[in-house]
Amino acid sequence: MSETSSTAGKIFLAPMEGVVDHVMRDMLTSVGSYDLCVTEFIRVTQQLYKPALFYKFCPELKAGSVTPSGTPVRVQLLGQDPDWMAENAVRAVELGSPGVDLNFGCPAKTVNKSKGGAILLREPETLYRIISAVRGAVPADKPVTVKMRLGYEDKSLVLDNARAIESAGADMLTVHARTKVEGYKPPAHWHWIAKICDEVSLPVVANGEIWSTEDALECRRESGCDDIMIGRGALALPNLSRMIGEGEAPMTWDEVRKLLIRYAGTERPDRREGFLPSRVKQWFTYLRLQYPQADDMFRDLKRLQDLDEMIRLLSSEA
Ligand SMILES: Cc1cc2nc3c(=O)[nH]c(=O)nc-3n(C[C@H](O)[C@H](O)[C@H](O)COP(=O)(O)O)c2cc1C
Repeated sequence: MSETSSTAGKIFLAPMEGVVDHVMRDMLTSVGSYDLCVTEFIRVTQQLYKPALFYKFCPELKAGSVTPSGTPVRVQLLGQDPDWMAENAVRAVELGSPGVDLNFGCPAKTVNKSKGGAILLREPETLYRIISAVRGAVPADKPVTVKMRLGYEDKSLVLDNARAIESAGADMLTVHARTKVEGYKPPAHWHWIAKICDEVSLPVVANGEIWSTEDALECRRESGCDDIMIGRGALALPNLSRMIGEGEAPMTWDEVRKLLIRYAGTERPDRREGFLPSRVKQWFTYLRLQYPQADDMFRDLKRLQDLDEMIRLLSSEA
């Protein structure tokens, strides 16, 4: 962590299922400066998962639970059964995760239908039961952190949820400042996070719609939180965390291209064919928001299926 970012507040890299896997964490932490990354969620059902599953979501567990550039990575769990959540949380920390993060923000229909993710924000008592079971099972020196939205349909239970989360013993609460129903539609309601901070005394992290240094400043001002989490903004501007924390200039398109070439060249023997080309295209959808050159290049790139051809195109301006 840089000195600047520690005085200005911490910056966390948001979990993003299907986007921010260990390779993306490696890329983003190599050009950014984060205090912590959180994995994609592991969906907990009625079973204790084998270590292999934890390693799949978080290969960093085998390397001290840090990314190659040294940023800690915490495993995230999503589920509704307190006992199975607790058992899997214990396994995550036994395997080396620096604590465990619990997801109560996921809006996915399939997940909500089986009573996981944001739907639990309708039931503060259930949140309480899950978090206290996990907190009671995980050693006291390992943080149990929680991520939530402002509610499911509306914000009427937001303070009840925050109080339940605190009284269950959570060590930190990250708030994506929208309800489930609001999806990803701007704006994020950062001022609601301030209401939460007035109500509880555990550390609160503000999240949602931080795309620039100005957004970070405004979010910190409106929410009253020093600590922030950034997701899509970090994919659009890969060094956004350093821009916010250290006043760095945005990476040039040339630098971003080199990062993309590195990303496209990563070895992933476990992945099906076509996986990486589609991930490269997916990253472009975010980069196009900030880099006109990415928009230009995407016209040719989107037709390509072959990774080597993609790398040739990415290298063509070098
Ligand atoms: C594609 C995608 C996948 C996500 N997956 C997760 C997840 O696995 N766990 C989680 O807690 N939040 C997840 N989120 C929510 C983000 O962590 C974050 O709260 C949200 O994107 C708002 O932050 P941002 O505006 O900085 O992107 C996901 C968001 C997106 C767009």
